[in-house]
Amino acid sequence: MIKLVRHDPSGMDIYQLSNDKLQVVVSNYGGTILNLYAPDRHGEFADVVLGYDKLTSYQQEDGYLGALVGRVANRIRQGTFTLNGKTYHLAVNNGPNHLHGGLKGFSYQFFEATIVDETTLRLHYVSEDGEEGYPGRLDLVADYILKDHQLILHYRATTTEDTLVNITNHSYFNLSGHQESIHSHWLMVKADQFACVDGDGLPTGKIRDVTGSVFDLREARLLGQVLNQSDEQLEIAHGLDHPFILSAKENQVVLYHPESGRQLTVSTSLPTAQIYSANYLNDRQGKNGAIYANQDAVCIETQYLPDAIHLQEHPDTILRKGDVYDAVTSYTFEVITK
Ligand code: BGC
Repeated sequence: MIKLVRHDPSGMDIYQLSNDKLQVVVSNYGGTILNLYAPDRHGEFADVVLGYDKLTSYQQEDGYLGALVGRVANRIRQGTFTLNGKTYHLAVNNGPNHLHGGLKGFSYQFFEATIVDETTLRLHYVSEDGEEGYPGRLDLVADYILKDHQLILHYRATTTEDTLVNITNHSYFNLSGHQESIHSHWLMVKADQFACVDGDGLPTGKIRDVTGSVFDLREARLLGQVLNQSDEQLEIAHGLDHPFILSAKENQVVLYHPESGRQLTVSTSLPTAQIYSANYLNDRQGKNGAIYANQDAVCIETQYLPDAIHLQEHPDTILRKGDVYDAVTSYTFEVITK
C-alpha cells in the first residue's frame, strides 16, 4: 500500500510504502529514503537507515543521507569534461572537484510524485539544460517499488543532447537499527577487483585485484576486522570508500547483522558499487536524538565507475540523445538465523 502521509507547506511531501514485511518512507525532496523499517528475528521492526528528524536538515546538511544522487554520482575530476569536442565546466563543490551532481544536485531538488499503483511510487524530475553545468535537458523517472520484502529502485532517463548520467541511492544502512556500529556487521561483495582512489576520493585509474587483501570480500567478512587492518588504500580513504567492480550479475552485495538476524541483499544491473563506510559522519545529529559517528553505517552505492568520463575509452556514463538510461537496483531484507 502507498499513501501520502504528510504534505508540508515547504513542498516536501512524505509517502509511505508498506506491507507486512517492510515499510519505506520516502520524500519527493531529493527522492530521499527517510526511514526503512525491517523486522529482526523476533519480528521487531527497526529503522535500518540513517537520517534526520527535521526535513530542513536534508536541505542544509551534506552527507546525502538516503538521497537519490545525480546527475552524476561521486566525483568528476576538476569538475570539467569534454564531450563531442566541447568542454563543459561543472559546479565544483568538493575541493577542486565536482561531487554528487554539484551544489544543487538531484538530492536537493523537488521531484513530482505520483502513486502509480499499490506498489509503485513514481518520482519525476526534469533537469534543465545547463543545470550544474551539464549539457542537455534530462528527464528522469525513478520508480520506488515495494514488493514483498524487497524495495526496487528503477531509474530511467532521456536527454535532449548527449550528456552524462550516473544515478545512485545514498542510503546509510545500519541493520542493528543504530544500536551498534557497522563493525558488528558482515559484508560480502562479489567483486574480483576494485578501483584505487587518491586523497581526494577519485579513482586514480589503477585497478587492483582483491586477492589476498582486505578488499577481498568475496566471502563475507566482519567489517570491524576489515576496517582495522592496515592497507594504504584504507588509510587514504579513512576506511572503505572505493568502487568495487562487480563480477556477478545479481545479488552482488550482502550485509548481515548477526545479533538481529537482519540481512540485506543488494542486486543491481549496474557494473560497480561504491562501498562507503560512512567515514565523514563526524558526530552529526541524527534521528531520535542519535549522534552519528564515523563508521556508524555503510552505503552501497550502485553505479557506473566514478569519473568514468576521464578513465574509460568508451565512458559508460555518457547518455546519448535518443538513448534511454535504464538501471535497476533492488534491496531485499531477510532474517537469517545462523
Ligand atoms: C563518497 C564519499 C563522500 C560521501 C558523502 C560517498 O559516495 O564516496 O567520498 O564523502 O559520499 O558525500
